[in-house]
Amino acid sequence: MNAPTFRAAIAGTGSYLPSRILTNDDLSKMVDTSDEWIYPRTGIRSRHLAAEGENTSDMAAEAARRAMAAAGVAPEEVELLIVATITPDSPLPATACHVQTKAGLANATCFDVTAACSGFLYALDVARQFVMAGTVRTALVVGAEKMSAITDWTDRTTCILFGDGAGAAVVRRADEGSPNGILSCATGTDGSLAPLLFVEAGGSALPTSAETLAARKGYVRMDGHTIFKHAVRNMASVALKAVSDAGLSPADIDWIVPHQANIRIIQAVAKALDAPMEKVVTNIETTGNTTAASIPVALDAAVRDGRVKPGQNVLFAAFGAGLTWAASVVRFGR
Ligand code: UT7
Repeated sequence: MNAPTFRAAIAGTGSYLPSRILTNDDLSKMVDTSDEWIYPRTGIRSRHLAAEGENTSDMAAEAARRAMAAAGVAPEEVELLIVATITPDSPLPATACHVQTKAGLANATCFDVTAACSGFLYALDVARQFVMAGTVRTALVVGAEKMSAITDWTDRTTCILFGDGAGAAVVRRADEGSPNGILSCATGTDGSLAPLLFVEAGGSALPTSAETLAARKGYVRMDGHTIFKHAVRNMASVALKAVSDAGLSPADIDWIVPHQANIRIIQAVAKALDAPMEKVVTNIETTGNTTAASIPVALDAAVRDGRVKPGQNVLFAAFGAGLTWAASVVRFGR
């Protein structure tokens, strides 16, 4: 006999952005750059940065609390917590364990997922599988990053791009008879392209040492130009796959919530899907690239201001280090 399968739905969202703001003008006092260079090329004007002592798990816990409040879910109901992050509080234990304590998720099994900017969608897919299998009824998926901790503030080619923040979604078994839920998730990886976007030191292959610190090897390095091309191609193709796997066509999509890495990448992906920019949720201007937090932060803003409504078809698409890519179609609501 086959195991029962259930539909998983997004029952509530939450997000948190730290209050400190760094503008392009602020950056122009730190490195040789300008708002005139940054804004037209990226769409970014400012980004939020965590306060001293404010960690990834603090931002994740706040986003989680807000998502649970929106979903009407009590902390003890959460059976699974997945935190997507590339900026864990420390290598051990998983940041999800700290979030469990801070958000009071005593009954949750907790672990992290590492898939860079695709991390939230990878984690959403994992949570969906648990719910579909009937293993858990209520899960929390959080994307949280303190990118400022791994940003080289002397490297103008990368420090202009990133920001800090966290976003969360409660993933629950859909209400009986509801047509809403996560309709598809598509993911992909090409590890041979890992050298395009990486942090060299701080892991077991090259532990942090006086030499790695002096050579600034603990920070993000990126071949931005090459990444840009892969991002457009892979985000568009995985998005089309997720739409088709959901049994829909691009015209059926009400909202696209893409990973916020560069407004020009977002525009190119929208064009490939034949979607007007009016259907695309963007917040990159004020957040920069918050990696795994980017999609849930943008989604939460669009849910709270009433753009994304229950019953609408929402497409998520992401791309990041790995290289990794992912997309998902959700008929929003429980
Ligand atoms: O989250 C997923 C991963 N990340 C991405 O998806 C990022 C993808 N890539 C990008 O968004 C773009 O490649 C960037 C915004 C990072 C860079 O834009 P670009 O048009 O590809 O610029 P470039 O790297 O080709 O640099 C063009 C010029 C260079 O000068 P030369 O060699 O032409 O004299 C750079 O040195 O611009 C220079 N430059 C800057 N100038 C002022 C690079 N960064 C800066 C800067 N301010 N911040």
